[in-house]
Amino acid sequence: MTDYKNREIHLTSRPDGLPVPENFGLIETSVSSDDGDVLVKNIYMSVDPAMRPPLTNGQTKLDEPMMGGAIGRVLHSRNPDHTVGSYVIHRAGFREYHVSDGSDLRTITLQDEPLTTHLHVLGGTGLTAYGGLLVTGELKDGENVFVSAAAGAVGSVVCQIAKIKQCRVAGSCGSPEKVDYLVNELGIDYAFNYKTQDIRKSLREGLPDGIDVYFENVGGEHLDAACGQMRPLGRIPVCGMISAYNNKGARSEGVTTLSNMIYNRVTMKGFVVYEFEHLREQFLTDMRKWMAAGQMKYSETIMQGIDQAPAALIGLLKGVNTGKMLVQLSEDT
Ligand SMILES: NC(=O)c1ccc[n+]([C@@H]2O[C@H](COP(=O)([O-])OP(=O)(O)OC[C@H]3O[C@@H](n4cnc5c(N)ncnc54)[C@H](OP(=O)(O)O)[C@@H]3O)[C@@H](O)[C@H]2O)c1
Repeated sequence: MTDYKNREIHLTSRPDGLPVPENFGLIETSVSSDDGDVLVKNIYMSVDPAMRPPLTNGQTKLDEPMMGGAIGRVLHSRNPDHTVGSYVIHRAGFREYHVSDGSDLRTITLQDEPLTTHLHVLGGTGLTAYGGLLVTGELKDGENVFVSAAAGAVGSVVCQIAKIKQCRVAGSCGSPEKVDYLVNELGIDYAFNYKTQDIRKSLREGLPDGIDVYFENVGGEHLDAACGQMRPLGRIPVCGMISAYNNKGARSEGVTTLSNMIYNRVTMKGFVVYEFEHLREQFLTDMRKWMAAGQMKYSETIMQGIDQAPAALIGLLKGVNTGKMLVQLSEDT
């Protein structure tokens, strides 16, 4: 039997507004090779905006390890489906080791890509963008597309799929560096900083003929501005509303332009990524093809060590990430 020192992040108090480091605790425990059927050593964990509302609404329990997507390697196994050394993805992030019966683990088989891509472009993030834009958003070649939080993990994939489909693409983001990344690295047609530029005016400048698809990641003022500029039969796939997540009940600012939905027969539809599970094989084939052709780039912001996980979540909500926010929990040995 081998014992391992395990560190994990607990929520210790509920945030009011933007979380602060004092809302979280770093707890030391130990695990052993005899625990469970499979012992996984986590390597990377994903940090996602959807982790924020449960901190306040009670879904995340106090004084228990928090949950979140992670990739690790099987260290010990008594389960024939999970051999030692294989990579697995699961929901037990925010800890260095995961004790499992095997039922919550999905094996990852790497081709040429780096491991981390399975937590973003080739994982749930990418599938969210792919399904949300092509299925819920019913994107057609050559349309006018607006993407909010465009330099983030989901947004940057949406922007590039829309460019692959020959669309005119405008994106909003929160810094001049991100504007530069969107236009000069990802090759979208127009980007603006919503913190310093008027959203309505920027949209009229970037998409003067109006918007066919608004890929909604932000809500509030963004939705208010975009909804008023939707073209006939436009679609608004509602992926997320990050501007509201620090508010009680994740309540967003009011939207005043919904009447445009009537005149222009606009559809607004929410979705969740698991709706697109049946598309995973096609999605992986398309994404790998686009990555190989240089049409699908990605960026990662990686913080080091489990103790940095709260800072990574707080940083994500403040926009310090370009592309995917990750935490590295151990070396991949
Ligand atoms: N429906 C689903 O199944 C599903 C799945 C995954 C993600 N999502 C949603 O997709 C959206 C993007 O998620 P992600 O994982 O790709 O995160 P992300 O975009 O990589 O990171 C979040 C970004 O949001 C921006 N932001 C933060 N506060 C903001 C505010 N008040 N107004 C405008 N922008 C703000 C920040 O960038 P700036 O510097 O640009 O402000 C930050 O970098 C989120 O709304 C998330 O909830 C939905």
